[in-house]
Amino acid sequence: MKTILITGGAGFIGSHLVRLFVNKYPEYKIVNLDKLTYAGNLANLTDIEGKANYEFVKGDIVDADFILKLFIERQFDAVIHLAAESHVDRSITNPTEFVFTNVIGTVNLLNAIRHIWKDNTEGKRFYHISTDEVYGSLGSEGMFTEKTGYDPHSPYSASKASSDHFVRAYHDTFGLPVVVSNCSNNYGSFQFPEKLIPLFINNIKNNKALPVYGEGLNIRDWLWVEDHARAIDVIFHQGKDGDTYNIGGHNEWTNIDLIKVMCRIMDSKLRREPGTSEKLITYVKDRAGHDLRYAIDSTKLQQELNWVPSLQFEEGIEKTIDWYLANTEWMENVTSGDYQSYYQKQYQNR
Ligand code: NAD
Ligand code: DAU
Repeated sequence: MKTILITGGAGFIGSHLVRLFVNKYPEYKIVNLDKLTYAGNLANLTDIEGKANYEFVKGDIVDADFILKLFIERQFDAVIHLAAESHVDRSITNPTEFVFTNVIGTVNLLNAIRHIWKDNTEGKRFYHISTDEVYGSLGSEGMFTEKTGYDPHSPYSASKASSDHFVRAYHDTFGLPVVVSNCSNNYGSFQFPEKLIPLFINNIKNNKALPVYGEGLNIRDWLWVEDHARAIDVIFHQGKDGDTYNIGGHNEWTNIDLIKVMCRIMDSKLRREPGTSEKLITYVKDRAGHDLRYAIDSTKLQQELNWVPSLQFEEGIEKTIDWYLANTEWMENVTSGDYQSYYQKQYQNR
């Protein structure tokens, strides 16, 4: 039985990936290592927590001694690394936290696998999950390919870019068997409501203002989170050693158009007069260093590994809204306590 470590498995994308692997691969032992920060939530995994091939370990990837000890004890065959500080706005308020988790934490994992795999890397794999934000911002033309140069603008994307460089440097310098993927914006169930889609669904439901940064003309390329997890599965099993794959759904939206779609769907689901929710739109001060446009060219992944997104956006956004409306207890739990002071600080002076 192979033992696979998934870091950050209690977060948004991590929980979908853990669920996919635990259910699809009974022959793998899946160990989920997570610090359970504000973004990590074991309630995301209740349906698989009792499975024989699943184990949760609480721990911090920044703690090098703990990580080395864990790796020596467990002798993992592979690592899929998602643990990160992931929210751009928080990286503007507290950049250092992003250096610790995203850069140092990644290097600690690389050092630990160097130690345990030093004699034999046969069949081993370190898979680093990254983001399209490392490529910077596009104008109205073009798309990010695997060859696009790195040009990060936020402390979050700078920390992710740095971790990507370390992963590739450990491949080139120490011969570690690594693979990297860079994905566009994910949406779906279990996403913490600091990110645009779950935040706005929650605010529309509660008749709260919808704080649109700047003019709402920034463009993001949205991918159904379960399609990202499927892409990770394919790349983990079939991706080439040392290679990079871009993942995206060819699904670009300006923020304001996306928000209006959500308003329309929610007016209908909440039986409100058409146009009611759009009145909540409030233009606020722009995000500092706000990237204008992201768009991923995923031709390489589609052609080499045969991956295509399974869900159209119209269906995906409706399913997503239905999930948040049905899971009110989940939403109430994650928005009580610290969330309220985060929200106040983030939005009060915009
Ligand atoms: P998330 O914030 O929902 O989850 C991050 C998880 O990491 C949480 O469970 C948290 O508890 C854990 N974590 C944080 N610091 C830790 C530490 N020091 N030690 C151990 N665990 C720690 O993030 P997400 O949106 O699921 O993103 C997962 C990964 O995918 C990240 O690496 C992110 O950069 C990348 N990514 C995200 C998106 C997106 O749209 N959300 C797109 C592309 C890439
Ligand atoms: O592109 C991949 C990235 O997507 C991931 O690497 C990040 O982890 C993930 O957080 C996401 O980053 P974004 O900054 O694009 O996502 P966010 O949901 O924070 O914002 C999406 C867009 O909506 C962005 O243009 C900013 C805008 N926005 C966001 C919030 C939270 C608003 O207008 N108002 C808001 O309140």
